[in-house]
Amino acid sequence: MNIILLGPPGAGKGTQAQRLVDKYNMVQLSTGDMLRAAVKAGTPVGLEAKAVMEAGELVSDDIVSALICDALDALDADTGVIFDGYPRTAPQAHSLDTILSERARLLDHVIELEVNEEALVDRITGRFTCANCGTGYHDRHKLPKSEGVCDKCGSTEFKRRKDDNAETVRQRMVEYRAKTAPILPIYEERDVVTRVDGMADMDTVTQSLVEVLEG
Ligand code: AP5
Ligand code: MG
Repeated sequence: MNIILLGPPGAGKGTQAQRLVDKYNMVQLSTGDMLRAAVKAGTPVGLEAKAVMEAGELVSDDIVSALICDALDALDADTGVIFDGYPRTAPQAHSLDTILSERARLLDHVIELEVNEEALVDRITGRFTCANCGTGYHDRHKLPKSEGVCDKCGSTEFKRRKDDNAETVRQRMVEYRAKTAPILPIYEERDVVTRVDGMADMDTVTQSLVEVLEG
C-alpha cells in the first residue's frame, strides 16, 4: 500500500506516520526529515536547502523528487510507503505519478488531515523530538512519561527544529495554502482522497486513519 499524508505544518503528518509505521510495517518517507539530515550532514543538497527551510519556503521540486526516487529504490518493491510532506506542489505530484508508475507502485490513498490553523502555531512551537530515535513530543500535549527520558529509547537528549518559530510557521502556512492545497483536486478526480479531522486527539486521528486503510 502507498499513501500520501497531506496537511499544513503541524497537522500531525509525522506523528501519524510514525504510528502507521509501527502498526503496519510500512516505511515513512518524509522529505522534511531527509532534507534536515542533508543539512546536518552538510551535503550539497543540504547546503542548498538550509536557508530555504529556515525561511519557511519550499526547496526545489527537482531536489525533493530525487530524494524520493533514491529512498524508494532502497526499499523492497512490496514495502508499503507513507509519503509525509511530499508531494507539495503540482510538479511534484506529476513527478510522483511517474516515479510510482516506473516502479509498478499504485497510489492507494491520499489522506488530508484537516486542522484549524490557529491551533497549529501552538502545536509547532511546543514540539520537540528525541535526538536519538526521533520520537515526537510536545511541551503541553505529549511529554515523555518520565521527565527528560525518551519513552521509546531511553535517551535524555532532545532537539527542536530551527524552523519551528512563530514567524517561520506563518510563512510555511502561506506556502501550504498557495502551493500544496491546490494539488488536492488532482487526487479528488481519481477518487482517492479522504479527509480526516486532524483536530481530534492523536489516538482518535490514528483510529480514523486505520479505518481508511482497512476500510
Ligand atoms: P516538513 O518537515 O515536512 O514540515 P511541515 O510540513 O511544515 O510539517 P511539520 O513536520 O511541521 O508538521 P507535521 O504535520 O509533521 O506535524 P507533527 O506530527 O510533527 O518540511 C519542513 C521544510 O522542509 C519545509 O518548510 C520546506 O522548506 C522543506 N520541504 C519538505 N518537504 C518538501 C517538499 N516536498 N518540497 C519542497 N520543500 C520541502 O505534529 C506537530 C506537533 O503537534 C507535535 O509536537 C505533535 O506532538 C503535536 N500533535 C500532533 N498531532 C496532535 C493532535 N492530534 N493533538 C495535539 N497535538 C498534536
Ligand atoms: Mg513532519
